[in-house]
Amino acid sequence: MPTTTLSRAARFGGRPRLPGDKSISHRGLILGALAEGRTEVVDLLESGDVQSTARCLRALGVAIAREGASTFVDGIGGRGFSTPEGVLDCGNSGTTMRVLMGVLAGRGVAATLTGDASLVRRPMRRVAEPLVRMGARFDLTNGDCAPLTVHGTRLHGIDYALKIASAQIKTAILLAGISASGRTRVTGEVGSRDHTERLLPHFGGAVEVAPGRVEVPGDQRLRAARVHVPGDPSTAAFWMAAACLVPGGHVELERVSLNPTRTGFLRVLERMGADVRVEVTEAHPEPVGRMVVRQGALRGVVVAPDEVPSLIDELPMLAVLASQAEGETSVSGAEELRVKETDRIEAVATNLRAMGGRIETRPDGFVVEGGGALRGAAIDSFHDHRIAMAFSIAALVADGETVVHGSECVGISYPAFFDTLRDLTT
Ligand code: S3P
Repeated sequence: MPTTTLSRAARFGGRPRLPGDKSISHRGLILGALAEGRTEVVDLLESGDVQSTARCLRALGVAIAREGASTFVDGIGGRGFSTPEGVLDCGNSGTTMRVLMGVLAGRGVAATLTGDASLVRRPMRRVAEPLVRMGARFDLTNGDCAPLTVHGTRLHGIDYALKIASAQIKTAILLAGISASGRTRVTGEVGSRDHTERLLPHFGGAVEVAPGRVEVPGDQRLRAARVHVPGDPSTAAFWMAAACLVPGGHVELERVSLNPTRTGFLRVLERMGADVRVEVTEAHPEPVGRMVVRQGALRGVVVAPDEVPSLIDELPMLAVLASQAEGETSVSGAEELRVKETDRIEAVATNLRAMGGRIETRPDGFVVEGGGALRGAAIDSFHDHRIAMAFSIAALVADGETVVHGSECVGISYPAFFDTLRDLTT
């Protein structure tokens, strides 16, 4: 298993170029695949997860080509997908599998979706269930999990009260809804990231968004668009955290997504007392801006359930930061962490304790006692990119060497992570 060895950083600072947002990259490819004409996605994230989406779309007959900073997608428009030869391998990517379940359910092709050892353990009935109510046909022979087969058919719109604040489920229902007959309305937990709702009109689609409700008419035709993917705020979180922790640390980040459904980590950092400056530079279809973070003292905070969806992927990094803050930090309402690429509550607790941190786990979160020094340790990434990156940042303020086992998994969202880390610390 590849390992990376890290030690205390004497400095941290610079202006790293952030890779494109992962959620918007998936959606740019998928909406482009559905549209009529040639979509251009600029600054698409090049990483394992996004390659999984591109690989599946190609197997469904969509041409995707990269030229410099642009990726061109020749959409199927009214033509329809072709039946793939063999299974669609979604790799490690939950977004690929769940969103494609919704896309394929109403589009006349049959396909079997599978993934790596982590993905085939993650729950999929939560996506199939609303789609089946729309008339979709799935073979779920492996309990709650993939491999699963979707038999695309004509769907009808439904009213669905979503109980899990998951953008992947919401997106699957909406993208099934735009090909169904009648309207599809999602209510309940719709406050998760809203990139699909923002991008649909950009592709000529119709969507109505109101507090607690998202609605799409059926039988829609999308047209090709140009999408400039902003920097990923979930990736930015690692550099923001390092800037907060390393003495004299600072970082400047340009063109970061400031979508309010993604800026929970920024708001929590501000509550912790961090020195963060933000300037909005673009507004449509996604707010984008510049961020400057400087090192300073942090205090513990309470993260409440209603803010969890806006920083769900940043919680491993927050746990590490909390270990260096004054006082206690608690996170609740984050039970979804248990069904991510790994059980992130247990993975964080195991690794933080190995470094001498104090953490108690809860079924739906954790409590970290801040203020203790960290010591270098053997870190298990559990093949989870966000665990590997969060504990690589912890290593920068720990005594002695830290060895991150399974460090290659950073390629899922940020292949250049360790190269950039070296640039920022030397
Ligand atoms: C994502 C939604 C979130 C997030 C994941 C990407 C998306 O998952 O954790 O990294 O692009 O829609 P859930 O929908 O399971 O909350």
